[in-house]
Amino acid sequence: MNANAIKPFRVFNGNVNNRASRIFGGEASGICDWDDLKYPALLQLNKEMFSEYWIEDEIRLGDDLKDYRQKLTAKERYVFNVITGYLTQLDSIANRFNFLLGYITTDPSVASCIQLIASFEGLHNRSYQYLTSTMLNDSEKRQAFNAPKELATLKKRNQIIIDKIQETVDYMENVLAGKEEENTEKFYQVLYEGLLAYIILEGLYFSGGFVYFHSLARDNKMIGSNNMINLIKKDETQHNVFYGMVMQILMLENPSLNTDENYEYAVSFVKKCVEAEKEWAAELFSEIDTLSIKEYNDYVEYLANVICRNAGLSDIYTENKEVKSKWIINYGEKNGENRATKADFFETNVINYSHEGGDGFDL
Ligand SMILES: [Fe+2]
Ligand SMILES: [Fe+2]
Repeated sequence: MNANAIKPFRVFNGNVNNRASRIFGGEASGICDWDDLKYPALLQLNKEMFSEYWIEDEIRLGDDLKDYRQKLTAKERYVFNVITGYLTQLDSIANRFNFLLGYITTDPSVASCIQLIASFEGLHNRSYQYLTSTMLNDSEKRQAFNAPKELATLKKRNQIIIDKIQETVDYMENVLAGKEEENTEKFYQVLYEGLLAYIILEGLYFSGGFVYFHSLARDNKMIGSNNMINLIKKDETQHNVFYGMVMQILMLENPSLNTDENYEYAVSFVKKCVEAEKEWAAELFSEIDTLSIKEYNDYVEYLANVICRNAGLSDIYTENKEVKSKWIINYGEKNGENRATKADFFETNVINYSHEGGDGFDL
């Protein structure tokens, strides 16, 4: 383990291998040789992400403009605005946090994937802008973009992950600025907790928000908006796969993270986020007929299970191992190809939290 795990990448170091020794806290020459990667699956993933490039102008919103004014109820418009606002907030965080992760990774192939992801997050931001600029008047836009700052239940729900992500940013920054002495163990722990919060942002808080658009489309409303959301969702699914893989590699390279304490921490953190999401959904979706709270909560539990699988945990919500509401799949896929599956890059799961009881951890 490198004594100075947190450091800006070296642009070139001719004394070490092109193949990175570790994804964080290691060393690499700086030459990105895609035939000489420590984790060759990253090449395929990089290509797949690149092949998905799109721009928001490809989507036609003329009918949506009419639907927004003529078909949506006042509450449906309000929910549309608020969700668009908080998706923008989450994508803004994602865009910036990826910058930090790309900055501190040792492996140039990981950096390349992160750069692609960050650029997609920027595109997603622009897409929400496109939706709101097309349909919303000034006061509705203010409602959308101020919602994450004004609505208490939403703020509470978001703050859980924001605090952890900010802690990660602050720790890295403090060490780099010489304000805090580096502690390697703390570095990996902070990274672990920050990544867990981030995969909840990518895999739970985003994906939950998309369901509302699917439900409108099922009701034959806002079809163009839903098409755009499905393009975004396809990207987020890839991000989930990538960050699930990063999490697994982090644990593989740092077996000291595989502890009872971390297992319990992760389970309770996921549960806390799920509860906050349900509380928020109950408030947001009251008086909404296009989906039921029960369906939404079941889906949230399913998404939490997927996150658990990616992070090397057993499913927490055994009632929701699969998506129960098939319409979420039917209206939530671009060309029927979105599948929130486990990142399957290793023949066996590399995470094996030590646990004295020993049950429920058959990873
Ligand atoms: Fe995004
Ligand atoms: Fe993303």
